[in-house]
Amino acid sequence: MAKDEEIAFETALLMRAAAIEALLRRLLDQRALSGEIARPKRLMAAMRHGVLNGGKRLRPFLVMESAALFSADGEAASRVAAALECVHCYSLIHDDLPAMDNDDLRRGQPTVHRAFDDATAILAGDALLTLAFDILADEATVLPVERRAALVLALARAAGVGGMVGGQMLDLDAGRNPPDEAGIIRLQAMKTGALIRFACEAGAIVAGAPPEDRERLAEFGSAIGLAFQLADDLLDLTADAHQMGKATGKDAAAGKATLVALHGADWARKQLSGLVGQAHALLDPYGERAALLKEAATFVATRNS
Ligand code: IPE
Ligand code: IPE
Ligand code: MG
Ligand code: MG
Ligand code: MG
Repeated sequence: MAKDEEIAFETALLMRAAAIEALLRRLLDQRALSGEIARPKRLMAAMRHGVLNGGKRLRPFLVMESAALFSADGEAASRVAAALECVHCYSLIHDDLPAMDNDDLRRGQPTVHRAFDDATAILAGDALLTLAFDILADEATVLPVERRAALVLALARAAGVGGMVGGQMLDLDAGRNPPDEAGIIRLQAMKTGALIRFACEAGAIVAGAPPEDRERLAEFGSAIGLAFQLADDLLDLTADAHQMGKATGKDAAAGKATLVALHGADWARKQLSGLVGQAHALLDPYGERAALLKEAATFVATRNS
């Protein structure tokens, strides 16, 4: 039987996901914005395919809940959450390409390059990445200009060469030169951790919270970011494609350098509970108000999809 806190979290995640999905649908409207010339139909269809396809929307949830922790404006937070989800979906579209992981299934549906073609998938990813910064900079994200600029900078640092994209590069290199444990942790902190860290830190930025709080939330994000990829690697080993909505068993088949491959599943489960403990402790100063965020940390480590 699920505990009450678990049910409260799952309900909140579904509600936040529905709200973000509705906002993403509006942001991916066919009509061109002022300053744009036209929105090509095929490109928009590919972008929608890659975004409006039922992800868990965990990163948007983390943005919304970390913003709520500091009583930030919910509407601004939801636009920041949507911007981050655009970056995440772009990263998945490109990650699935034949030149990268070569996957046919994502969120239980054909990947964007399978439903369209490789070139269209590349462009859909490019356009989603750019759209994310459009959303943050737009004055419809009703925040003081300095906060919008801080969000643009933090997302650029998390998504780019020193964050997600850099991590994907190290992940590709790892196939040729297997890294040691510290190397694996660093590449995972970059390819997956950086966007999750941004998700948690972004709430504090939206709220204009003091630097200590911003740092605390970022640290919380780093801990659950590591846990998130560790769980993904564990699920790649233990779950099936139907459950995950994407192919599994690929890491071992490819001889991929993961902590699960290095230390085994039992070690990974212990490590996960340690990371959750660390994440919870970071939120202790906020008391009951952080209950849902704490539950999110537990979910990251114990999820089964
Ligand atoms: C999958 O992320 C990619 C990784 C970073 C491991 P999610 O498991 O959050 O994917 P969706 O958004 O729910 O599909
Ligand atoms: C991908 O890691 C992380 C990204 C930056 C997209 P994986 O390659 O393990 O993610 P999945 O398993 O395809 O979702
Ligand atoms: Mg990959
Ligand atoms: Mg992949
Ligand atoms: Mg994976």
